[in-house]
Amino acid sequence: MVALIAGNWKMNGSLSANEALLGALAAGLPGGAAAEVALCVPAPYLAQFRALAAQHTALQAVGLGAQDVSAHAGGAYTGEVSASMLGDFGCRYAIVGHSERRQYHGETDAVVAAKAQQALAHGITPIVCVGETLEQREAGQTFDVVKRQLAAVIHANGPCISEVVVAYEPVWAIGTGKTASAEQAQQVHAVLRAQLQAATAQASRMRIVYGGSMNAGNAAGLLAQPDINGGLIGGASLKAADFLAIIGAAR
Ligand code: PGA
Repeated sequence: MVALIAGNWKMNGSLSANEALLGALAAGLPGGAAAEVALCVPAPYLAQFRALAAQHTALQAVGLGAQDVSAHAGGAYTGEVSASMLGDFGCRYAIVGHSERRQYHGETDAVVAAKAQQALAHGITPIVCVGETLEQREAGQTFDVVKRQLAAVIHANGPCISEVVVAYEPVWAIGTGKTASAEQAQQVHAVLRAQLQAATAQASRMRIVYGGSMNAGNAAGLLAQPDINGGLIGGASLKAADFLAIIGAAR
């Protein structure tokens, strides 16, 4: 299956910084790359991405993504962005349930499941994030935590679950420079694959990507694991050379 290398810019960027970064990416993106590339940008910059993709043909192969989506279809939800709005801007992906949303914005498993539902209903692929904290890992709860988080999305979405991308992002590895070892990550990915297998006959073609301090140095080892089908990259996606090196590591 084709690996997915998705950048998550988080709350970083500006019109001028984005233009420079996207220009550098466009210049360096390999033609016929082995991986599918996506960029999850802050919502105000979705239109800028589209305008720049009209200028730089290399960006047209990059899937545009959002970092969140509302659990509601529309109406009196000040500050929220609906899946249909993301669809208007040609979004192919929306991250849902990122640990920063769960931690700082109180998103529960049920809310995350509803967000995935909204995305799927509008033809947007949710990138569903799951992952344990350091405390949970040390208490031996890793598998239980990620399975509980994924189960909520499976139950709310029935057969459509085959259309999601799952991202395993151990919370202790996000933005900390500590990466899960390739073996640690593969163990969890295998558990998630087995859970998907029990839910859909399509599990073997579903992408389960790893996120958490993935960088140019560790990407190849992680991506070589049988159940790691790509990456969700935060910090390293803000530097063109680093992000391009990760894309190059996907084979
Ligand atoms: P990081 O972030 O690569 O900066 O650790 C990954 C993520 O949070 O998606």
